[in-house]
Amino acid sequence: MARKIILDLDTGIDDALALAYALGSPELELIGVTGTYGNVTVDTGVRNALAILELFGRPDVPVVAGLPHARGRDSFEVLEVSEFIHGADGVGGAQLPAPTAAPAEGGAVDFLIDAVRTHGEDLVIVPTGPSTTIAAAVEADDTFAERASIVMMGGALTVPGNVRPWAEANVHQDPEATDVLFRRARDVTMVGLDVTLQTLLTTRETAVWRKLGTRGGTFLADAAEYYIRAYETTSPHLGGCGLHDPLAVAVAADPGLITCLDINMKVDVGGETRGRTIADETRLNDPVKTTRVAAAVDVERFLGEFMGRLTTLAEQTPAH
Ligand code: BDR
Ligand code: CA
Repeated sequence: MARKIILDLDTGIDDALALAYALGSPELELIGVTGTYGNVTVDTGVRNALAILELFGRPDVPVVAGLPHARGRDSFEVLEVSEFIHGADGVGGAQLPAPTAAPAEGGAVDFLIDAVRTHGEDLVIVPTGPSTTIAAAVEADDTFAERASIVMMGGALTVPGNVRPWAEANVHQDPEATDVLFRRARDVTMVGLDVTLQTLLTTRETAVWRKLGTRGGTFLADAAEYYIRAYETTSPHLGGCGLHDPLAVAVAADPGLITCLDINMKVDVGGETRGRTIADETRLNDPVKTTRVAAAVDVERFLGEFMGRLTTLAEQTPAH
Protein backbone atom coordinates (compact mmCIF):
# COMPACT_ATOMS: atom_id res chain seq x y z
CA MET A 1 0.00 0.00 0.00
CA ALA A 2 1.29 3.48 -0.88
CA ARG A 3 2.27 5.73 2.02
CA LYS A 4 0.33 8.99 2.22
CA ILE A 5 2.42 12.14 1.86
CA ILE A 6 1.89 15.88 2.31
CA LEU A 7 4.48 18.27 0.89
CA ASP A 8 5.07 21.67 2.53
CA LEU A 9 6.65 23.59 -0.35
CA ASP A 10 8.01 27.06 -1.11
CA THR A 11 7.71 26.31 -4.82
CA GLY A 12 10.77 27.09 -6.05
CA ILE A 13 12.55 25.10 -8.79
CA ASP A 14 13.80 22.19 -6.70
CA ASP A 15 10.43 22.18 -4.86
CA ALA A 16 8.82 21.76 -8.30
CA LEU A 17 11.14 18.80 -8.97
CA ALA A 18 10.20 17.40 -5.54
CA LEU A 19 6.52 17.68 -6.37
CA ALA A 20 7.12 15.86 -9.65
CA TYR A 21 9.08 13.16 -7.79
CA ALA A 22 6.15 12.59 -5.43
CA LEU A 23 3.71 12.37 -8.37
CA GLY A 24 5.98 9.89 -10.10
CA SER A 25 6.41 7.59 -7.08
CA PRO A 26 4.17 4.52 -6.79
CA GLU A 27 5.17 4.15 -3.11
CA LEU A 28 3.61 7.55 -2.33
CA GLU A 29 0.05 8.88 -2.44
CA LEU A 30 0.09 12.67 -2.45
CA ILE A 31 -2.89 13.80 -0.38
CA GLY A 32 -2.10 17.50 -0.22
CA VAL A 33 0.35 20.34 -0.61
CA THR A 34 0.74 23.11 1.92
CA GLY A 35 2.35 26.32 0.74
CA THR A 36 5.00 28.18 2.66
CA TYR A 37 7.09 31.28 1.89
CA GLY A 38 10.84 31.20 1.21
CA ASN A 39 12.01 30.99 -2.40
CA VAL A 40 8.85 33.00 -3.21
CA THR A 41 5.87 34.40 -1.30
CA VAL A 42 3.13 32.02 -0.14
CA ASP A 43 0.83 33.28 -2.92
CA THR A 44 3.36 32.65 -5.68
CA GLY A 45 4.32 29.28 -4.23
CA VAL A 46 0.68 28.17 -4.01
CA ARG A 47 0.07 29.34 -7.58
CA ASN A 48 3.10 27.40 -8.82
CA ALA A 49 2.08 24.23 -6.95
CA LEU A 50 -1.45 24.38 -8.41
CA ALA A 51 -0.12 24.99 -11.91
CA ILE A 52 2.41 22.14 -11.71
CA LEU A 53 -0.25 19.73 -10.42
CA GLU A 54 -2.41 20.66 -13.42
CA LEU A 55 0.49 20.29 -15.84
CA PHE A 56 1.06 16.74 -14.60
CA GLY A 57 -2.65 15.87 -14.63
CA ARG A 58 -3.35 15.97 -10.87
CA PRO A 59 -5.70 18.96 -10.28
CA ASP A 60 -7.46 16.84 -7.63
CA VAL A 61 -4.64 17.34 -5.08
CA PRO A 62 -5.61 20.14 -2.65
CA VAL A 63 -3.18 23.01 -2.12
CA VAL A 64 -3.59 24.92 1.15
CA ALA A 65 -1.87 28.21 2.01
CA GLY A 66 0.39 28.25 5.07
CA LEU A 67 1.76 31.00 7.28
CA PRO A 68 3.14 33.93 5.28
CA HIS A 69 6.22 34.92 7.29
CA ALA A 70 8.59 33.89 10.09
CA ARG A 71 7.30 33.88 13.66
CA GLY A 72 9.60 36.73 14.74
CA ARG A 73 8.62 39.01 11.84
CA ASP A 74 5.47 40.69 10.57
CA SER A 75 6.13 40.36 6.85
CA PHE A 76 8.27 38.56 4.31
CA GLU A 77 10.29 39.73 1.35
CA VAL A 78 12.01 37.38 -1.07
CA LEU A 79 15.79 37.49 -0.57
CA GLU A 80 17.95 38.59 -3.50
CA VAL A 81 19.76 35.24 -3.47
CA SER A 82 16.45 33.32 -3.67
CA GLU A 83 15.33 35.38 -6.65
CA PHE A 84 18.68 34.80 -8.33
CA ILE A 85 18.46 31.03 -7.91
CA HIS A 86 14.75 30.46 -8.62
CA GLY A 87 13.75 33.55 -10.66
CA ALA A 88 11.16 36.14 -9.65
CA ASP A 89 8.35 33.73 -10.54
CA GLY A 90 9.99 30.81 -8.68
CA VAL A 91 10.30 28.62 -11.78
CA GLY A 92 13.08 30.45 -13.62
CA GLY A 93 10.71 31.89 -16.23
CA ALA A 94 9.66 28.43 -17.44
CA GLN A 95 6.25 28.52 -19.10
CA LEU A 96 3.57 27.48 -16.65
CA PRO A 97 -0.03 28.35 -17.61
CA ALA A 98 -2.08 29.97 -14.81
CA PRO A 99 -3.91 27.31 -12.79
CA THR A 100 -7.65 26.99 -13.20
CA ALA A 101 -8.14 25.61 -9.66
CA ALA A 102 -8.12 27.85 -6.58
CA PRO A 103 -6.33 27.06 -3.32
CA ALA A 104 -8.36 24.91 -0.92
CA GLU A 105 -10.29 26.62 1.86
CA GLY A 106 -8.87 26.73 5.37
CA GLY A 107 -5.35 27.00 6.66
CA ALA A 108 -2.35 24.70 6.39
CA VAL A 109 -1.88 24.30 10.15
CA ASP A 110 -5.35 22.78 10.60
CA PHE A 111 -4.96 20.73 7.43
CA LEU A 112 -1.75 19.18 8.76
CA ILE A 113 -3.14 18.52 12.24
CA ASP A 114 -6.28 16.87 10.83
CA ALA A 115 -4.21 14.73 8.48
CA VAL A 116 -2.00 13.40 11.29
CA ARG A 117 -5.04 12.71 13.48
CA THR A 118 -6.64 10.78 10.62
CA HIS A 119 -3.66 8.90 9.19
CA GLY A 120 -1.09 8.80 12.02
CA GLU A 121 2.07 6.93 11.09
CA ASP A 122 0.68 6.00 7.65
CA LEU A 123 1.41 9.59 6.63
CA VAL A 124 4.75 11.29 6.04
CA ILE A 125 5.09 15.07 5.94
CA VAL A 126 7.91 16.54 3.88
CA PRO A 127 8.67 20.23 4.50
CA THR A 128 11.05 21.66 1.91
CA GLY A 129 10.94 25.31 2.97
CA PRO A 130 11.12 27.26 6.24
CA SER A 131 9.67 25.37 9.25
CA THR A 132 7.15 28.07 10.25
CA THR A 133 3.93 26.23 9.39
CA ILE A 134 5.09 22.82 10.63
CA ALA A 135 6.32 24.28 13.92
CA ALA A 136 2.96 25.99 14.41
CA ALA A 137 1.26 22.59 14.04
CA VAL A 138 3.71 21.05 16.54
CA GLU A 139 2.92 23.78 19.07
CA ALA A 140 -0.83 23.73 18.47
CA ASP A 141 -1.38 20.01 18.90
CA ASP A 142 0.43 17.45 21.07
CA THR A 143 -0.89 14.59 18.94
CA PHE A 144 0.79 16.15 15.93
CA ALA A 145 4.09 16.48 17.82
CA GLU A 146 3.84 12.85 19.01
CA ARG A 147 2.64 11.13 15.86
CA ALA A 148 3.77 13.15 12.83
CA SER A 149 6.47 11.49 10.79
CA ILE A 150 8.51 14.31 9.25
CA VAL A 151 11.27 14.18 6.63
CA MET A 152 12.53 17.73 6.22
CA MET A 153 14.92 19.32 3.77
CA GLY A 154 16.98 21.82 5.68
CA GLY A 155 20.03 22.38 7.81
CA ALA A 156 23.69 21.44 7.57
CA LEU A 157 25.58 19.41 10.17
CA THR A 158 28.99 18.66 8.64
CA VAL A 159 29.22 21.30 5.91
CA PRO A 160 28.91 25.11 5.85
CA GLY A 161 25.59 26.85 5.25
CA ASN A 162 24.56 28.14 1.84
CA VAL A 163 23.10 31.58 2.60
CA ARG A 164 25.31 32.34 5.61
CA PRO A 165 28.51 30.61 6.71
CA TRP A 166 26.53 28.85 9.42
CA ALA A 167 23.03 28.69 8.03
CA GLU A 168 21.16 26.76 5.35
CA ALA A 169 18.45 28.74 3.51
CA ASN A 170 15.31 27.09 4.93
CA VAL A 171 16.50 27.20 8.54
CA HIS A 172 17.88 30.72 8.07
CA GLN A 173 14.38 32.05 7.30
CA ASP A 174 12.98 31.01 10.70
CA PRO A 175 15.57 29.44 13.03
CA GLU A 176 13.19 29.50 16.02
CA ALA A 177 10.66 27.41 14.10
CA THR A 178 13.16 24.68 13.18
CA ASP A 179 14.36 24.71 16.78
CA VAL A 180 10.78 24.00 17.94
CA LEU A 181 10.56 21.17 15.43
CA PHE A 182 13.80 19.57 16.66
CA ARG A 183 12.96 19.94 20.32
CA ARG A 184 9.30 18.94 20.30
CA ALA A 185 8.51 16.64 17.38
CA ARG A 186 9.18 12.94 18.04
CA ASP A 187 10.12 11.72 14.58
CA VAL A 188 12.18 14.00 12.36
CA THR A 189 14.62 13.04 9.60
CA MET A 190 16.86 15.92 8.57
CA VAL A 191 17.95 15.78 4.94
CA GLY A 192 20.41 18.68 4.85
CA LEU A 193 23.18 20.09 2.68
CA ASP A 194 25.49 17.29 3.91
CA VAL A 195 23.75 14.98 1.45
CA THR A 196 21.77 17.21 -0.93
CA LEU A 197 24.93 18.84 -2.27
CA GLN A 198 26.13 15.39 -3.30
CA THR A 199 23.12 14.82 -5.54
CA LEU A 200 23.62 17.02 -8.58
CA LEU A 201 21.75 17.56 -11.82
CA THR A 202 23.47 18.68 -15.03
CA THR A 203 22.41 19.64 -18.55
CA ARG A 204 23.11 16.05 -19.65
CA GLU A 205 19.97 15.04 -17.76
CA THR A 206 17.83 18.03 -18.73
CA ALA A 207 18.55 17.23 -22.40
CA VAL A 208 16.66 13.95 -21.89
CA TRP A 209 13.56 15.86 -20.77
CA ARG A 210 13.83 18.39 -23.57
CA LYS A 211 13.99 15.64 -26.18
CA LEU A 212 10.61 14.29 -25.06
CA GLY A 213 8.87 17.17 -26.84
CA THR A 214 6.11 17.22 -24.22
CA ARG A 215 4.86 20.13 -22.12
CA GLY A 216 6.02 18.47 -18.94
CA GLY A 217 9.45 17.66 -20.35
CA THR A 218 10.00 21.20 -21.60
CA PHE A 219 8.88 22.71 -18.29
CA LEU A 220 11.26 20.50 -16.30
CA ALA A 221 14.15 21.22 -18.67
CA ASP A 222 13.59 25.00 -18.75
CA ALA A 223 13.23 25.34 -14.98
CA ALA A 224 16.14 23.04 -14.12
CA GLU A 225 18.48 24.69 -16.65
CA TYR A 226 17.80 28.10 -15.08
CA TYR A 227 18.67 26.58 -11.71
CA ILE A 228 21.83 24.94 -13.08
CA ARG A 229 22.97 28.30 -14.54
CA ALA A 230 22.47 29.97 -11.15
CA TYR A 231 24.58 27.27 -9.47
CA GLU A 232 27.34 27.82 -12.06
CA THR A 233 27.65 31.32 -10.57
CA THR A 234 27.10 30.63 -6.86
CA SER A 235 28.81 27.21 -6.57
CA PRO A 236 30.98 26.56 -9.64
CA HIS A 237 32.96 23.87 -7.77
CA LEU A 238 29.90 21.58 -7.73
CA GLY A 239 29.44 21.09 -11.49
CA GLY A 240 25.64 20.94 -11.25
CA CYS A 241 22.68 22.04 -9.15
CA GLY A 242 21.75 20.52 -5.79
CA LEU A 243 18.67 18.28 -5.82
CA HIS A 244 17.77 19.32 -2.27
CA ASP A 245 14.02 18.96 -2.11
CA PRO A 246 13.62 15.92 -4.39
CA LEU A 247 16.06 13.99 -2.19
CA ALA A 248 13.81 14.54 0.86
CA VAL A 249 10.83 13.15 -1.06
CA ALA A 250 12.92 10.22 -2.27
CA VAL A 251 13.89 9.44 1.34
CA ALA A 252 10.21 9.51 2.33
CA ALA A 253 9.60 6.86 -0.37
CA ASP A 254 12.75 4.87 0.44
CA PRO A 255 14.57 5.62 3.73
CA GLY A 256 17.30 3.18 2.65
CA LEU A 257 18.74 5.83 0.32
CA ILE A 258 20.48 7.55 3.23
CA THR A 259 22.60 6.60 6.23
CA CYS A 260 21.79 8.58 9.36
CA LEU A 261 23.25 9.72 12.64
CA ASP A 262 20.62 9.40 15.35
CA ILE A 263 21.13 12.56 17.34
CA ASN A 264 19.01 15.10 19.20
CA MET A 265 19.32 18.41 17.38
CA LYS A 266 18.77 22.09 18.09
CA VAL A 267 19.15 25.36 16.18
CA ASP A 268 21.25 28.27 17.38
CA VAL A 269 18.88 31.22 17.54
CA GLY A 270 21.26 33.99 18.63
CA GLY A 271 24.71 35.38 17.95
CA GLU A 272 26.83 34.91 14.87
CA THR A 273 25.87 31.23 14.49
CA ARG A 274 22.14 32.01 14.31
CA GLY A 275 20.54 29.40 12.04
CA ARG A 276 23.16 26.70 12.70
CA THR A 277 21.77 23.16 13.10
CA ILE A 278 23.83 21.28 15.69
CA ALA A 279 23.52 18.57 18.34
CA ASP A 280 21.69 19.63 21.50
CA GLU A 281 24.36 19.08 24.14
CA THR A 282 21.74 18.90 26.90
CA ARG A 283 20.09 15.89 25.22
CA LEU A 284 23.24 14.21 23.97
CA ASN A 285 22.94 11.33 26.43
CA ASP A 286 19.19 10.99 26.25
CA PRO A 287 18.59 7.41 25.08
CA VAL A 288 15.57 8.59 23.09
CA LYS A 289 16.68 10.22 19.87
CA THR A 290 14.01 12.23 18.08
CA THR A 291 16.04 13.27 15.05
CA ARG A 292 17.97 11.33 12.45
CA VAL A 293 20.41 13.36 10.41
CA ALA A 294 21.32 12.14 6.94
CA ALA A 295 25.10 11.81 6.80
CA ALA A 296 25.55 9.79 3.61
CA VAL A 297 23.49 9.08 0.50
CA ASP A 298 23.51 6.48 -2.27
CA VAL A 299 23.99 9.07 -5.01
CA GLU A 300 23.87 6.73 -7.98
CA ARG A 301 20.69 4.98 -6.90
CA PHE A 302 18.94 8.25 -6.10
CA LEU A 303 19.88 9.86 -9.43
CA GLY A 304 18.67 6.77 -11.28
CA GLU A 305 15.32 6.87 -9.47
CA PHE A 306 15.05 10.63 -9.94
CA MET A 307 15.58 10.53 -13.70
CA GLY A 308 13.44 7.44 -14.21
CA ARG A 309 10.47 8.80 -12.30
CA LEU A 310 10.49 12.35 -13.66
CA THR A 311 11.07 11.23 -17.25
CA THR A 312 8.18 8.76 -17.12
CA LEU A 313 5.93 11.42 -15.60
CA ALA A 314 6.89 14.04 -18.21
CA GLU A 315 6.42 11.56 -21.05
CA GLN A 316 2.74 11.24 -20.13
CA THR A 317 1.99 14.96 -20.54
CA PRO A 318 0.65 16.27 -23.90
CA ALA A 319 3.04 16.92 -26.78
CA HIS A 320 3.62 20.52 -27.89
C1 BDR B 1 16.74 24.89 0.18
O1 BDR B 1 16.55 26.30 0.02
C2 BDR B 1 15.70 26.56 -1.07
O2 BDR B 1 16.26 27.53 -1.90
C3 BDR B 1 15.56 25.27 -1.83
O3 BDR B 1 14.28 25.16 -2.41
C4 BDR B 1 15.81 24.21 -0.79
O4 BDR B 1 14.62 23.88 -0.13
C5 BDR B 1 18.20 24.57 -0.01
O5 BDR B 1 18.99 25.22 0.95
CA1 CA C 1 12.48 24.55 -1.03
